[in-house]
Amino acid sequence: MTKAEAKTRSLKLREQIDHYRYQYHVLDRSEISDAALDSLKHELQSLEEAYPDLVTADSPTQRVGGEPLAKFQKAPHGVPMLSLNDVFAFDEVEEWQKRVAKLLPPGTQPSYFAELKVDGLALSLTYRDGVLIRAATRGDGQTGEDVTMNAKTIEAIPLRLRPVSKILPREIEVRGEAYMPKKEFERLNAEAKQRGAEPFANPRNAAAGALRQLDPKVMSARKLSFLAYDLVTDIGVQTHEAVHALLAELGFQSGKHNRLCRTLAEIEDYHRDIEKLRSRLGFWIDGNVVGINELVTFKRLGVIGKTPRGAVAYKYPAEQATTVVEDIQVQVGRTGALTPVAHLRPVLVAGSTVSRATLHNLDEIRRLDVRIGDTVIVQKAGDVIPDVVQVLPKFRTGKEKKFVMPKVCPACGSSVQHPDGEVAYYCTNKKCFAQRMEELQHFVSKNALNIDGLGPKILEQLWSADLIRQPADLFDLTEKHFAPLERFAEKSAANLVESIQAARRGIELWRLLNALGIRHVGEQTSHDLAEHFGSISKIRSASIKKFLKVHDVGETVAQSLHDYCADYDSKKHLDELLKRVTVRAEVKQVGRGSLAGKSIVVTGSLAHFSRAEAKAAIRQAGGKWVSSVSKKTDYVVVGEDPGSKAARAKQLGVRVLDEAAFRKLLQ
Ligand code: IVH
Repeated sequence: MTKAEAKTRSLKLREQIDHYRYQYHVLDRSEISDAALDSLKHELQSLEEAYPDLVTADSPTQRVGGEPLAKFQKAPHGVPMLSLNDVFAFDEVEEWQKRVAKLLPPGTQPSYFAELKVDGLALSLTYRDGVLIRAATRGDGQTGEDVTMNAKTIEAIPLRLRPVSKILPREIEVRGEAYMPKKEFERLNAEAKQRGAEPFANPRNAAAGALRQLDPKVMSARKLSFLAYDLVTDIGVQTHEAVHALLAELGFQSGKHNRLCRTLAEIEDYHRDIEKLRSRLGFWIDGNVVGINELVTFKRLGVIGKTPRGAVAYKYPAEQATTVVEDIQVQVGRTGALTPVAHLRPVLVAGSTVSRATLHNLDEIRRLDVRIGDTVIVQKAGDVIPDVVQVLPKFRTGKEKKFVMPKVCPACGSSVQHPDGEVAYYCTNKKCFAQRMEELQHFVSKNALNIDGLGPKILEQLWSADLIRQPADLFDLTEKHFAPLERFAEKSAANLVESIQAARRGIELWRLLNALGIRHVGEQTSHDLAEHFGSISKIRSASIKKFLKVHDVGETVAQSLHDYCADYDSKKHLDELLKRVTVRAEVKQVGRGSLAGKSIVVTGSLAHFSRAEAKAAIRQAGGKWVSSVSKKTDYVVVGEDPGSKAARAKQLGVRVLDEAAFRKLLQ
């Protein structure tokens, strides 16, 4: 290859590599696999090695390069980096709007721009002649640190701006938030756990820690991302909405959940919509940023102290809080596993009071080194039971007590066993009250028999009155059994008996399977088994080999199913149950519904469906939810922050659908 040819080829390579970067980070599309993209980068690297003068600062090969720094240089900000006032409730938004209105000429009717407030750290990026020349942290707002080398490793940050129709000044400054995606945070923490190292307490610390690495190679191993939210340079754009549009054109991810709001009520709708979406986003947010959309008005409102008057951070209630561990007690699960639970001094987390947090197992207690009396950080993510994420040892007084796993079951007093190779400790008594109670609760729960009104209190009363010992007993209950129980009106007894009786007529097979509480067999596997075998009798007589033929069933699950079917007590229980209930024949969905007979993979998070909802929707439309992409897959539905499955679909020529197309198909 001549030098001229190398030059042409390298320019093409740069252009294409940036094209794929833009597709992936800005448009959320992966057009080729990571491996193919790496191969293009590798080719460019080789060309630049052969012809070193082809290298320039904006070449994609320059993302990781350079020697570790001794320290960061100071980076003064031409325009100070401000922060925002927080508001937590709608009436505070109203107050803000009133304050703003007073300062504006009468009759001014501003519109508002609402966007996500990503939980990361602010970066200022300077481009000269379209090329990134400086990236700086916020620091004290006046002077930050020059983290250019590290910022270059963030693929969502363009090294060169894309051409736009507007004429730009030579130098422009873009601001935005560098953040760690949830998946990367989980990956890093899992890795840290394996190494026995301290995990990061939260993604912002993880992102800040990464950016402050003096060695850019360490930084590039932690995949941060970047969302742009402001263009500091005045280029004559009139609204913040237009700023976002321009940022996207320039090659930045600028947020696809932004919304122009005309009224305060629309801001409230936005805040609520995003709250629902929040757990499905690929990154953490701690609220929204709401600002005056018209930039003239925004500027006119000015700044007080370090915050602009024209915008506020509309926060969601904190998901972390600190409290004190008052006790650690063990709870006995359905399988007899003993789970240590921290009893906490009640504290408000994400809008609700938390007084318990699971500590999972003894290994976790040791890892956290949590003791009774410790001050800890608790965290709530979505609807799950809160977790203790960190102990604050500086608060120790010396009076804290270490937790000891009891030698006997706290519910029934039987001995406790710690099987080799397992983390959990177990109660050895199969008749243990606590275990059977858990079993009964699981049996009536939403994704099992779904019997309304049979809460733990009632189950306990029925147990104490010797009326139930196993799930089958529930079906023998009549109204007269409820009469002597505490606080039981005739009417509610009648209703309850009716809902129990309704549940026994025509149970779906998957519900029955899930209700049995077989180890490692959850809702999804129950569906797969029901679909594969079609009847309970076929399942009861199946061999391990036959179980292994079921979609997604591996050795552990097959063995567990086999053990269950062979176990004397389980057999007896199931016989009793089957004498009382009728199992609905599994209707093969094939041939019905808009997705009849289609295999569908979903990757990334969807705005309108949780994972369970997407599964249910697919199933209802006659389709089959599968977890990995193969040639046999009919569609791959790609949501936010998709994994490698999207690229794999492309490779195999499987049809890719976005969420809108998927929803259409479901109709
Ligand atoms: S606007 C005038 N927009 O929140 C301040 N900030 O306290 C300009 N942040 O330091 C900030 N997402 O690091 C803005 N969409 C967004 C943001 C955002 C996150 C951070 C930013 C800033 C802090 C505000």
